[in-house]
Amino acid sequence: MKGLFGGEAVYKKIWEQRKQRSPRRSAGAPGLNCLVLGGGGREYAIAWRLANCNSVTTIDAVPGNAGLSLFTRVIDQSPDNVSWLDEHVLASFIDLAIVGTDELVAAGIGDALRRSGISVVGPSKDASKVEWSKSFAKELMAEAGIPTSRSESFADAGAAKEALAHWRAPVVVKADGLALGKGVTVARTLEEAAEALATPPANSGRVLLEELLEGEEASLQALVDGEVVVALPPARDHKRAHDGDTGPNTGGMGAFSPTVVLPDDQAQAVAEELIAPIAAALAKRGTPYRGVLYAGLMKTAAGWRVLEYNARFGDPEAEVTLPRIEGDFAKLLFALGEGRLAEYIAAEPIRFSKRHYVDVVLCAENYPGPPKTGMPIVGLDRLPENVLAFHGATKRNATGDVVVGGGRVMHIVASGDSIAEARDRAYAGAERVSFEGKFYRSDIAQQEVAVA
Ligand SMILES: Nc1ncnc2c1ncn2[C@@H]1O[C@H](COP(=O)(O)OP(=O)(O)OP(=O)(O)O)[C@@H](O)[C@H]1O
Ligand SMILES: [Mg+2]
Repeated sequence: MKGLFGGEAVYKKIWEQRKQRSPRRSAGAPGLNCLVLGGGGREYAIAWRLANCNSVTTIDAVPGNAGLSLFTRVIDQSPDNVSWLDEHVLASFIDLAIVGTDELVAAGIGDALRRSGISVVGPSKDASKVEWSKSFAKELMAEAGIPTSRSESFADAGAAKEALAHWRAPVVVKADGLALGKGVTVARTLEEAAEALATPPANSGRVLLEELLEGEEASLQALVDGEVVVALPPARDHKRAHDGDTGPNTGGMGAFSPTVVLPDDQAQAVAEELIAPIAAALAKRGTPYRGVLYAGLMKTAAGWRVLEYNARFGDPEAEVTLPRIEGDFAKLLFALGEGRLAEYIAAEPIRFSKRHYVDVVLCAENYPGPPKTGMPIVGLDRLPENVLAFHGATKRNATGDVVVGGGRVMHIVASGDSIAEARDRAYAGAERVSFEGKFYRSDIAQQEVAVA
């Protein structure tokens, strides 16, 4: 295995700790047996953070990726196979399950796991509608008095196209459902809007037209247990594919935390204002939320506006925020999943580290279009100090090489005492890891360095 994966030094500590805690994989060993569902950079970050907790005994990742197999048990199963999950939870004495991806949350995997009586971080299908239907989110925001952009929802693209006559450009076109971060078009002209309405995913099913807002964006994730809301460190991500925020929207090309747009010390207050009312509205409807609720925010001249909610950790936000959460993260999530968040936080208030993190995403050729895959990844063993490689879409080929397995291949996550230091390190790392067709944005956190 030597040389194939990077950062062996980083894993050494984890391996050593785990050897002490569980010499063999032993179901009866004290500590938490964790299950992480998904196999991208976000799930890597979750598992990596859990692995650094003394309370954790085992971690299973389903389906995982090539990097996760370094320090978790990766199981090649479909994470939405409910009968298999039920059996696995019993057979492996799982205590804590984290539903990583939006598709799994929307498929109701949180509900299925909760039936086993274990601690589950991931909302019910009904509560997660706040992510998988943007028109439902707008309805809820209106009900809860959350400031957001003016919008109109239509049963299909045809109806939206007719209504365009009453709209003025620029206008934002949004598919109602999940679209892997690729369902939004910011149209500068009405022709562009009409074109977006004629192209997938906006041309099938419910669709929204929205007023364009101007301002600085921030991502705020919070732990939500019914009406209890605990803010996590704020972050910023970069959604457009190319430098200078040009090109199509992607799943996310990079991120950093903390940010001057939404400083750490304002996070809880903003969460009380823009996330808690949604949690309360969902509880009132009889569909209380239990999991991570993420608000995509924009700071406009008129104040904060909510662009959207997501029903899980952000990807790449998790990569730069989870390393900043101090204390025993596994115990924190365990308490959330059991419905004891308020009690836990009263005893163990959440603390954020002062370190800065930057994530530069290395992408495969042609992403966000269908990516070119299968190329070997080299250089992971040459990462500088304070730089981690959080695997995204990686897999092993028949000969055991780590190869490109999808669009967002690798997150180069670096830390520093300042944003500038973290950024320099992340880019030094991004240069050392290579594969054919690799591309990445060169301006992640650049503006932040200028204003910080
Ligand atoms: N009303 C708006 N005004 C200006 N920009 C917008 C607006 N709505 C969306 N955007 C831009 O498009 C991006 C994606 O929008 P949104 O977050 O609603 O989509 P999404 O596909 O659900 O994203 P994610 O992958 O984060 O879940 C936003 O981050 C923002 O940059
Ligand atoms: Mg979304």
